Amino acid sequence: MKYQHLIYAFVIVTATSLVFSCKKDQVPVVSDCVDTVYFATQIAPMISSKCLSCHDVGNSTGYTLTNHTNISANASAVLNSLHGASVALMPKGGPALNDTLIQQFACWINQGKLNN
Ligand code: HEC
Repeated sequence: MKYQHLIYAFVIVTATSLVFSCKKDQVPVVSDCVDTVYFATQIAPMISSKCLSCHDVGNSTGYTLTNHTNISANASAVLNSLHGASVALMPKGGPALNDTLIQQFACWINQGKLNN
């Protein structure tokens, strides 16, 4: 009957990994960053068109998002704001950016916030 223990162990491991994979689905997906995200052609234009109207130099929001240095320094806050997670949802007043753009920003962080 010692195989029974193996079966129990298998069931527990399978159930646990199912629980974790389901949880993962609720969080924005950042695991499949297959394509390199480019700062110059993807991140900067997105910030420029969606955020700079309020976050340009000299604004009063507390966040200046005009170049690679300040965008990467504030990357976590920016990502949180795109989800409205623990900070105000941005762009202010909504609607939120589409999932593809948010995912792209998350992948850019994952890939090391490159200035590419
Ligand atoms: C219409 C103006 C406007 C636009 C567009 C805008 N923001 Fe903001 N943002 C603000 C203001 C004002 C604040 C200060 C906090 C508040 O009033 O909610 C702010 C705050 C923030 C904060 C700090 C949030 C917090 O609660 O600490 C982050 C991060 C941010 N914005 C990122 C962005 C990003 C990224 C974009 C573009 C996707 C963006 N914002 C677009 C006006 C704007």
